[in-house]
Amino acid sequence: MAKKDIMHTYGRFEPVFNKGKGIYLYDENDNEYLDFVSGIAVNTLGHCHPKIAETLKNQGQTLIHLSNLYWNDKQNNLAEKLVSLGEHDSVFFCNSGTEANEAALKLARKHGKSISASKNKIIYMKNSFHGRTMGALSVTGQGKYQEQFKPLIGAVVECEYNSIEDFNSKMDGEVCAVIMEVIQGEGGLIQVEEEFLKNVRKLCDEKEALLIFDEVQCGAGRLGTFFAYQKFGVVPDVVTMAKGLGGGFPIGAMLSKGKASSVLVPGDHGTTFGGNPLACAVALTVIEEVVDGGILAEVDKKSEYFCSKIEKLMARHKSIEKINGMGLLLGVKLSGVESKDFVAKAFEKGFLVVGAGNNVVRVIPPLNVTYEELDKGIEKIEEVLEELEK
Ligand SMILES: Cc1ncc(COP(=O)(O)O)c(C=O)c1O
Repeated sequence: MAKKDIMHTYGRFEPVFNKGKGIYLYDENDNEYLDFVSGIAVNTLGHCHPKIAETLKNQGQTLIHLSNLYWNDKQNNLAEKLVSLGEHDSVFFCNSGTEANEAALKLARKHGKSISASKNKIIYMKNSFHGRTMGALSVTGQGKYQEQFKPLIGAVVECEYNSIEDFNSKMDGEVCAVIMEVIQGEGGLIQVEEEFLKNVRKLCDEKEALLIFDEVQCGAGRLGTFFAYQKFGVVPDVVTMAKGLGGGFPIGAMLSKGKASSVLVPGDHGTTFGGNPLACAVALTVIEEVVDGGILAEVDKKSEYFCSKIEKLMARHKSIEKINGMGLLLGVKLSGVESKDFVAKAFEKGFLVVGAGNNVVRVIPPLNVTYEELDKGIEKIEEVLEELEK
């Protein structure tokens, strides 16, 4: 058994998976699982979408990797596409969400330095999640992830999410950036409040601090617009994305606008693999399918459909307290049932969901999920609740 040879950094379910198709995963014994995890908001088009497989094959026979010492057509095309979809004018490519956030933190520090030597503080939100490297971890507002790895980077300041009072008391001229999620994915699908967000934007402008949105989980169409900020009417200076952008192939991106686009210059930041033609070709295919292929336009409708079904379930099951989130990044908030128990019971029934905190179960199907598949998910949720409520 090769399992013992893998470093024990994840709590995993026992079966070994070896196949996926659409919304289904299959284990070695050919058991089928309805996958509402999507690799945690990654498999935008489900498993092994034929267009992604075709792109991998074609690009794999054309050009896979070359150094960023040279331009490549797919990176150029993807940057142009991402710029055309939103308000930003410049893209840096990397390989993961954490890396995109690291790039944003470095950009922020250099921006601050260009104004004054002491402008280096970064405000982050309580309950946030931005990744596991030392920088990203330092601005992740969850002590449980940080404790064993201190000391972390300095000059980071935690703010209560959605508290204007707390934010205003911490925002001063030494702040170079504010990093936040508009929906806290790992934190339980908690949404930013409009008034708070507008206030953050206003103060960032006043104090010349960059506003960074981490759209690693909620971007790339998850909320029903390509960029999550497009649902909130506030444009950040920097956006980070990854996960769903590559539909399962690793890619990350940091987008910036205006002054933020000219902060980093050759030598400041880089990555060997970032923006390789294979990853960029796959991301272009994902965008083509999601945006141009009409999937994005259906996200809100599918979300409403699913939420209305959950509301019906609520009438029968007291352990559903409410539904959090937006688009197809939803969280069923439970009371009296712990999310880990729900997730384990669902697994037994061939239904994959993932928790967010103690009492929220995330529902993250691929964006091309069908209404019938959503119905199957609802049936599974009811089956699980019936057992847990016994
Ligand atoms: C909001 C957010 N930011 C950053 C990350 C880290 O991304 P990655 O695991 O690709 O490094 C995650 C991962 O869950 C995330 O949800």
